[in-house]
Amino acid sequence: MGSALKQTMSNDKGNSNQPYILGHSDHELNRLRAQARFLEPDTRQFLLDAGVKRGMRILDVGSGAGEVAFLAAELVGEAGIVLGTDKAPAAVAAATQAAQNRGFSNIQFLEGNPAEMTFETRFDAVIGRYVLPFQDEPSAMLRGLAKHLDHSGLLIFHEPDWTCVRSFPPAPLYDRACRWISDTTQLSGQSWNFLEKAHTIFVGADLPAPTMRMHTFIAGDFNTREWLIAVGDIVESLLPAMVRLGVATVEEVNIWTFRDRLLQDVTSNRSVIVGRSEIGIWTTIGRDATQKTAASDCEHPDSASL
Ligand SMILES: C[S@@+](CC[C@H](N)C(=O)[O-])C[C@H]1O[C@@H](n2cnc3c(N)ncnc32)[C@H](O)[C@@H]1O
Repeated sequence: MGSALKQTMSNDKGNSNQPYILGHSDHELNRLRAQARFLEPDTRQFLLDAGVKRGMRILDVGSGAGEVAFLAAELVGEAGIVLGTDKAPAAVAAATQAAQNRGFSNIQFLEGNPAEMTFETRFDAVIGRYVLPFQDEPSAMLRGLAKHLDHSGLLIFHEPDWTCVRSFPPAPLYDRACRWISDTTQLSGQSWNFLEKAHTIFVGADLPAPTMRMHTFIAGDFNTREWLIAVGDIVESLLPAMVRLGVATVEEVNIWTFRDRLLQDVTSNRSVIVGRSEIGIWTTIGRDATQKTAASDCEHPDSASL
């Protein structure tokens, strides 16, 4: 991008009092990159179906290692721009480095919570993947994000849901691992069961009722391999929180052998695995919403430029 993206923000870089349960270790940033390959077709379809087009200006919320921003940059092309944001400095540094390595000229990453930042420009779309479950007040976050949208701007999220996970015939370790994950996220107050909340969160932010889609992973035998590795990666990232919250012990999980045991568990039983569901949820803000948020922008003491 030619000129630097400038912004101002409040000192509070997040709206959650809970520690972010996944952290930003090298393992977690690598996990996000690997997971992105698995999720890319779903995210791409949600973005396209919602109306992302060439030339758009996109704000990505909670960029992590940057993979959603990179996908958006490909979709908007050289004529568009993408601003990625994350409240974690380690994520911003990793995403910035990856953008340079991949030669993107239409992306920049900034540190902060974009719901509380101001920009001189407005965006055609605000997008995010796997970020709303981590917010104490997701409707408040959406309200803060909607103020960055132009008239008829799009608010598009891709979030997870774990309520459908199961195996048949039962693969006991798979079922146990999914329970560990669900219990850990529930106990931390950052539940990954987004389906039951999605609609309420959007309308609770005074946004038009959203369009929703759900894709669910399902496969048998060796076709489950990539998903099971992803489950192993999630268990590893959540392990400190799992232990802290008393969900599982280090010995029980035994992360060094966990992935092998999981693969063995599923393949030896020839189980069919139902995995995580991917929820696409989006809405277009109307004229009223734009006017309302434009007024609150004017009251903000800070100024910014893009
Ligand atoms: C599970 S990761 C997902 C990363 C990326 N969207 C992806 O799908 O690969 C969630 C990221 O959102 C960031 N995050 C959570 N809440 C945030 C907030 N309020 N403002 C900015 N970033 C936030 C976290 O620091 C983390 O890097």
